[in-house]
Amino acid sequence: MRKFYGVGIGPGDKELITLKGYNAIRSSDYVLMPKSKGKSTAGSIVSEYIEDKTIIELEFPMGEDNKQRYKKVASQIDDILGEEQQAVFLTLGDPMTYSTYMYLMLELKNYDMDIETIPGITSFGASASRLNTPLTLKDESFYLCDGEVDEEILKKVDSICILKANKHKEDIISKLEKEGFSYTYVKRCTQEEEKILYDKEEILKENDYMSLIIGRRK
Ligand SMILES: C[S@@+](CC[C@H](N)C(=O)[O-])C[C@H]1O[C@@H](n2cnc3c(N)ncnc32)[C@H](O)[C@@H]1O
Repeated sequence: MRKFYGVGIGPGDKELITLKGYNAIRSSDYVLMPKSKGKSTAGSIVSEYIEDKTIIELEFPMGEDNKQRYKKVASQIDDILGEEQQAVFLTLGDPMTYSTYMYLMLELKNYDMDIETIPGITSFGASASRLNTPLTLKDESFYLCDGEVDEEILKKVDSICILKANKHKEDIISKLEKEGFSYTYVKRCTQEEEKILYDKEEILKENDYMSLIIGRRK
């Protein structure tokens, strides 16, 4: 039976990959990874684990309607994967959290292969740990969103994390301040270029897609 793994490789520190994820990578014939602007962050995180593998880089242009692209890539994977072979698709953080992998996985269900998803440490879980800040104490609720914040939801929660915060930082911060939240900007959590900022003006100067804002009611 052909096997396809979707593996969450965590936020960046290669020690934050699960043992199960590592084993899936090591036992696979092919390593597939998303590439953006010629670079693959996932590939550089696991570089030392995949030196002897056949690597296939896949472009998923951000912000475009990728439905046709997912179909095409799924068909490519079906062509590549021989009987009894294994492929692993690397995804940053957790595969079931705002990832390209989920759309690809849904397309791959149309083909004859066994699909297994291996969870990973999310960017927001890693950031909360990095900051030693609780996400949810007993009876609290947490709001995870990408890009924009819904103020009505914000009013009802105790903590929040906004992924893909880069383009909307000003609006996000003003909503957090209005609702009485403290906030922290985390860029490239657990990676070499990691940056943690608390000051609004400094946060607004940053411009990196790999960043998030985490907030807690004061
Ligand atoms: C497509 S989503 C991927 C989310 C990922 N699957 C997860 O579980 O965290 C991309 C967004 O995740 C966040 N992100 C991923 N890795 C990060 C890291 N190491 N540090 C900060 N933010 C990160 C950023 O907000 C980025 O815009």
